[in-house]
Amino acid sequence: MGRTIRIFDTTLRDGEQSPGCSMNLNEKIEVAKQLEAMHVDIIEAGFAIASPGDAAAISAIAQHVQDSVVCSLARCAEKDIDAAYHAIKRANAARIHVFLATSPLHMQYKLGMTPEQVLESIAHHVAYAKQYMADIEFSAEDACRSDKDFLCRTFETAIRAGATTLNIPDTVGYMAPEEYAALVRYVTEHTEGIERAVLSCHCHNDLGMAAANSLAGVEAGIGQIECTINGIGERAGNAAMEECVMALHVRRDHYNADCKIDTKQIYRASRLIQTITGVPAAPTKPIIGANAFAHESGIHQHGVLANKETYEIMTPESVGIPQNSIVLGKHSGRHAFEDRLRELGYTLSPEEIDRVFAKFKLLADKKKSIKDRDLEALVGAVPVSGEERYKLLDFVINSGNSITSTAVIRIQYGEETRERVAASDGPINAAFRAINKIVGQDIVLEDYALKAMTDGEDAQGEAIVKISPEEGGPIVTGRGVAVDVIEASIKAYINGINKLMMEL
Ligand code: KIV
Ligand code: ZN
Repeated sequence: MGRTIRIFDTTLRDGEQSPGCSMNLNEKIEVAKQLEAMHVDIIEAGFAIASPGDAAAISAIAQHVQDSVVCSLARCAEKDIDAAYHAIKRANAARIHVFLATSPLHMQYKLGMTPEQVLESIAHHVAYAKQYMADIEFSAEDACRSDKDFLCRTFETAIRAGATTLNIPDTVGYMAPEEYAALVRYVTEHTEGIERAVLSCHCHNDLGMAAANSLAGVEAGIGQIECTINGIGERAGNAAMEECVMALHVRRDHYNADCKIDTKQIYRASRLIQTITGVPAAPTKPIIGANAFAHESGIHQHGVLANKETYEIMTPESVGIPQNSIVLGKHSGRHAFEDRLRELGYTLSPEEIDRVFAKFKLLADKKKSIKDRDLEALVGAVPVSGEERYKLLDFVINSGNSITSTAVIRIQYGEETRERVAASDGPINAAFRAINKIVGQDIVLEDYALKAMTDGEDAQGEAIVKISPEEGGPIVTGRGVAVDVIEASIKAYINGINKLMMEL
């Protein structure tokens, strides 16, 4: 039995910082619940000082999460540490994550501080955080471009002030794996008191080596990996959790280490992030990409049919990818439906089951057989527990290659039914214009994408829109799923508007 590596997930902090990946309060809670369900050790829920919205989300997560440690980031500033503490103080287990840059470049140009001032600031602020709680992490930002001996001095200072986890971030994704491992060994050998702390890695993916560097860190003695679902994060992203976790799992023999993550929850977590952010994973993305378990060439197919292990080093089931078996039809009852969702790893509240089951019945009228992927699409299509101020009732579209497209849309808004007509060059734009008239705003469509969620002629289409208010402001993601792609698009637009209303 080897070492158990802690998994520190920063999807809700570093991940959420990446363009197009912002999430609202309900979405963040939903993600935190999923991270807890997959047994993440530490959830970095955000950066409390960044905005009141961030602080409120961290605080809500701290109250929802029971088993994982909930963490907030803080710069070396008392007001940051106070904000972090107040956001996480109700968590069962909490951590403050204090950071300060230690490379000559960052100290001179970003902080305008001398190395001595940096050491003083670390000593003061780690001790300041320590009066709030026992579990304190210190990160030396841009550690990999820092002077190695100075880095060790910063860590000694942090340990003396009470830090229990020391993080060696490759902030700019600059390292090669052997180099990163050598740095970890150097720090281990040259930092007094290091045996009192857990070493952590936090690798960015600018050269595509984030997961490789993190795993090299494990080989060199790292005890915690910082990562994100789907590898989202600043610039080229962070180390992808699914890659690090599955490498540890599949190659336990090599790493002599594993972690507590329930690997069967990986696919669900990945889908949840794609659904919420509207940022799709590349088909070739390891572990969770659409092609990760697809065998195209004849030789490969032949091999896999004879014995899966010829071309598969892990099974799709081991990461929770639903198998495309026909499971339900229009005569299936609520029990069978609920059972199958449970088998797929979904634990929904009775109200959520009611909502999804109603949608299932509508879908079953349109599709002969409902497969696991359809169920997955249906669950994902139910708006993450939030207010649905506007609800689509009906629509009629008139379109053709030689006429102007027109759309009539009827929407329920509270007790009221609103109906508007609009025309445009294309049917989807006409529908969006009619909806704009209903809500009385010229909502701006920033991005729009459509894809088939399932296979076959009666596949469900998924539409993703990114919209913002006409006067500028947050860009939100809306998602809609339906067999009819125009319906999916209209639902996505309305879903986006409902989210926008919650933000404003
Ligand atoms: O990349 C980085 O250095 C960070 C720190 C705040 C840990 O995100
Ligand atoms: Zn980072």
